Amino acid sequence: MRKAIIAGNWKMNMTPSQGVDLATALMPLVADAACDVVICPPFVDLVAVGEAIKGSNIHLGAQNMHFAEKGAYTGEISADMLKELRVEYVIIGHSERRQYFAETDETVNKKVTVALDKGLIPIMCCGETLEQREAGITNDFVSGQVEKGLSGLSAEQVENVVIAYEPIWAIGTGKTATKEEANATIGVIRKTIAKLFGEKAAAQVRIQYGGSMNAKNATELMSMEEIDGGLIGGAALKPEDFAKVVKF
Ligand code: PGA
Repeated sequence: MRKAIIAGNWKMNMTPSQGVDLATALMPLVADAACDVVICPPFVDLVAVGEAIKGSNIHLGAQNMHFAEKGAYTGEISADMLKELRVEYVIIGHSERRQYFAETDETVNKKVTVALDKGLIPIMCCGETLEQREAGITNDFVSGQVEKGLSGLSAEQVENVVIAYEPIWAIGTGKTATKEEANATIGVIRKTIAKLFGEKAAAQVRIQYGGSMNAKNATELMSMEEIDGGLIGGAALKPEDFAKVVKF
């Protein structure tokens, strides 16, 4: 069966020394976790945090990367750079990157493809706005994002992708999708993958929920059949809270 995966997205929080303190506090709290535990600090924290978590069960992730191999892309970070720091996961196409940094399904697709080629596990984000949900187009919109984001990949590659379904209206708002809403949309995503890549890929791909998931609601969200994990923002910055989510 699918192994649950809880990932912390620190966003633009924590200096390197603060990140080391957070990771160090977290390690004993999640040492006996039954799921995959990932933390995604800012780029400049990766070296120090990676060193701090060495030998623990916590995996290192980045929050973004560029799709080019190398070259004149001022301010960008490549997959090879991340790999050398023992980064294993990379968040791709978070809604904040789409909203503030002009990322599109096309750039997401390029990044997911390169991440897989380089042996990184992409955590590919998708999710609708409140207007789209109210207009009743959530399923079509999210399926479209997933189809475009995974375009050109093989079924075997898709099995290794992690998808994070994050309704934009639930991110950082304290407003969580109900477990039924989250489960239903994730079910639609899985059906889309079955249609495009076959039943095996659909059965293997892990799909997280994200959006105000926290110590209080993790248990009920994780009880749902389609929900394989969580991408956690705010609650990932507090070791006790994140550990509670990990132990859902
Ligand atoms: P949140 O963020 O948990 O603070 O809502 C989730 C995310 O953006 O990944």
